[in-house]
Amino acid sequence: MKIEKQFLKGVKDMDFDKVNEYIENLYKKEGVDKKTYIDNTSFKDFIPVVDQDVSRFLSLVLCLTNATSVLEIGTSIGYSTVSMANTIKSNDGKIITVEFDNIVAKQAKENFIRSGVDDIIDIRIGDAKEILPSLNEKFDLIFLDVDKRLYKPLLGECIRLLKENGVLLAEDTLFPVIDLDEKWHYLIPAIEEFNHAIVASEEIQSTILPIGDGVTVAVKKKK
Ligand SMILES: C[S@@+](CC[C@H](N)C(=O)[O-])C[C@H]1O[C@@H](n2cnc3c(N)ncnc32)[C@H](O)[C@@H]1O
Repeated sequence: MKIEKQFLKGVKDMDFDKVNEYIENLYKKEGVDKKTYIDNTSFKDFIPVVDQDVSRFLSLVLCLTNATSVLEIGTSIGYSTVSMANTIKSNDGKIITVEFDNIVAKQAKENFIRSGVDDIIDIRIGDAKEILPSLNEKFDLIFLDVDKRLYKPLLGECIRLLKENGVLLAEDTLFPVIDLDEKWHYLIPAIEEFNHAIVASEEIQSTILPIGDGVTVAVKKKK
């Protein structure tokens, strides 16, 4: 009866700002505090990192899937890397993270040492377009957070590098519909292409969650 009433009442509208504020207040102590992490980072001229809700989500997916081998494409100062490393370090987990900017990679390395996770993170400095085809091991989880124009070109490599039932997470996939700063508008067509390619792929099953700037969650199907 109660359920039926609730069902009839329905949801009139969902104010995402209110929803986000509620969730952030509830979970503000969970995960790696983004503000403190950035305050502790001396190099400030880096490409934006994921929001704290996305870092919590990465951590949750790693727990849910028992993942221990992770590939991250796009390190920046390593905020998402540290969030993932904290989750898998007690499980003997390992992360390979790829970054082509030497300066930011050096800062990421310092942050890994300060965070006590340096020993489980292998930072590969170079272009993801060249590094990915050179990898042979398979991963439980791949986090794609690089130049958005590389998302679609790298999709085939990501699928190849995933184990069966492995998870691909891709950040910023709601760029086409969110209120995005104009300076990033040039990236929207690339995200549109990626979103359509991932839906069309028969090798993976996916959806997009409205957290951060949109996170695609995809699973590589069993053959
Ligand atoms: C959005 S940032 C990564 C943020 C990070 N995942 C986090 O949340 O802490 C994207 C990074 O990808 C790097 N990048 C861009 N193109 C690349 C390429 N072709 N190969 C490797 N790294 C690249 C940029 O230098 C930038 O630091």
